[in-house]
Parts: sequence; structure tokens; C-alpha cells
Amino acid sequence: MAIETAPGVEVDASEPNQHGYREFRLGEFAFSRDEYFVYMTWPTGRHVLSADGFLRALQRDVAWDFFYGIVNFDGVLGTMNHYGTVDLFAGRYNDSYRKAELDHMENFETPLIRETFKAMLDDWTNAGFDPFASPTETGSAFGPKSGENRRAITRHRVTAKRMVGVPGDEQIRTDESGFPKNRHFLDVPQDEPEIDAEPGFEDEVCSFNLFAYLSRSDVTWNPSVVSACKNSLYCPTTEEYILPIIHGNDRVEWFVQLSDEIWWNVEDRDTGAARAKVVMKPGDVAAMPADIRHQGYAPKRSMLLVWENASPDLPELLSSGKLPPVPVEF
Ligand code: PHB
Ligand code: FE
Repeated sequence: MAIETAPGVEVDASEPNQHGYREFRLGEFAFSRDEYFVYMTWPTGRHVLSADGFLRALQRDVAWDFFYGIVNFDGVLGTMNHYGTVDLFAGRYNDSYRKAELDHMENFETPLIRETFKAMLDDWTNAGFDPFASPTETGSAFGPKSGENRRAITRHRVTAKRMVGVPGDEQIRTDESGFPKNRHFLDVPQDEPEIDAEPGFEDEVCSFNLFAYLSRSDVTWNPSVVSACKNSLYCPTTEEYILPIIHGNDRVEWFVQLSDEIWWNVEDRDTGAARAKVVMKPGDVAAMPADIRHQGYAPKRSMLLVWENASPDLPELLSSGKLPPVPVEF
């Protein structure tokens, strides 16, 4: 059955199976789910993932429109963004699959994989399960199909054009706008800065309390743009439990730990070989190299500033060796 979603894009989906879930095909890949698991097949192999982790990863791939570089759902399945087209792969960045020649990769026009992933996320997310929430702040992903959670899976993604709080741009969060303080951030001061502008500049100076803003985030592991200066994007996020993807960088990313603690597993981007364990405590700053992949673990909700350079030139400068994969050498 072909479902037309965005104009001109046809998603290949079956009628619901005995568990109530549709099966989806994309090129030679096929995806299905039952009460606990997601199954995928490709011409040289098959794979199984837990439905909760799969939906958390899928949610981020969809919301971030395939992000920077590689979004690994686990050590086998993932996407690589070419900004216009997207590779979907199984085992491509896994040394064992590569050596056994069991890996498989196909390139798709972004609208086709975007609409297929959106339809899968919509069909497979049950009422009560919020893929962006921490495990203790959401219901279960499991069981036969029951209802939907469109409000959660299509929530607004914050992307400030200049800065949160600037008139006409993203606005600060309040109880009234539906963003109460998170249970782990009840002690975060909520006062907003006072502005004392020179006469004539009253409309041109803005400020906001970033800690208060983050204390009211209702999602985890979801960097959102709170300020933009050309390609320099401040993308803070609140973290709890495990980053649902293993991110393979196509540029350097800077991390500033604003509160609490995150443990990072850092691996070689292409093979998955272990490279480093990084434990970040408040005030720590790290530059994650452009040739790694990483996954974070946060024992309690914490605040992390991810600083991105959104320049479209970076992937080519790095892959051609014109730029080193690290911003500084000691
Ligand atoms: C990252 O891959 O750099 C990343 C992704 C999501 C986060 C934090 C960091 O919440
Ligand atoms: Fe990253």
C-alpha cells in the first residue's frame, strides 16, 4: 500500500500486522515491529532492536532532519546526512560487518526517507509513550498498537534565528506557556536579567536567563538553537539517562557541561573501536573531534551546551584533509 504524505512522496507501507503495526519498505530495507521489538532486513542480513530505543532514535533523526553527519541507532543501523540525500545503512560503520561483507547501504532523496521515517514514528508510537521524555517521565513503548501520541512526536523544535527572547523570535518558557520546572531543577533561580540600555537602544538589547530556560525543558537529548551568530549556533539541551543515538560527527563539536554530570563513550566513527571515556563535570569543556562517534550517559537531569559550527563547507574540508579533525593540538 502506498501512502502519499508530502506532495509527490509515496511511503511504502503494509496493512497492519497481527500486532496492529504497519510494515515499511525503503529501497531494499524492510522494517516491522511487534510488541517488544523492531525487526529490519536487507539483502545480506537482518537485525533486531528494542522498540523503545528504536523509537527514541527515530524521533531524533526525524526532528533533527538527519542531524550533522551520522545518526547510529546502535552499532549496526543508522543514517548519514549528505544534506539533500541521506544514506541508510546496516553494518556500514561496523568493522565486523564490513570484513564479512554483510553491510548494506542505500542513498535516498531526503523527502522519501524523511516521510517514511515520519510515517513509521507515527504508526509505531503508542498513546502515553513520549520518545523525547526521560524513562521516568513517560509511559511504555511496548505492547500491541494502542492509540497515538502525535502531540509529542510533532512538538515544536526550538530554532532561534537570533536569540531566545528577541521580539518575533523563540520566546522564554513559563508555567503559563506550558513549561513547568523539571523535578530535578526546582532549585534553579528563575530571575530574568535586568537590562539598562542607553537611551535610543531600548529596542535593540535583549537578554534571558539560560539556566531558567533549560530548567523548564520538557525533553531530553534534544539540542535546540537558542542563539545564532552566522554559523555559530548555541544548542543547549537537558540530558537524563542515555543519548538514544550514537552520533558520528562530520565536524568538531564543543561541549560545555553547565550542570551535573555526563559520561561519554567515544569511539572511532568508522569502525566503532573504543577511543576514550570522558566524564564531564560542571564547568568542564570538551572538543569532540570530527572523526569520532559518541554516546552520553546522564545519571540525573543535567544541562549541556552543545556548540555547533553549522558551516556547510565543513564536511568536505574535513574529508579532503584540508582541516584536521581536532581544533587544537597539545
Ligand atoms: C551530540 O551528538 O553531539 C549530541 C546529541 C544530542 C545531545 C547532546 C549531544 O543531546
Ligand atoms: Fe555529536
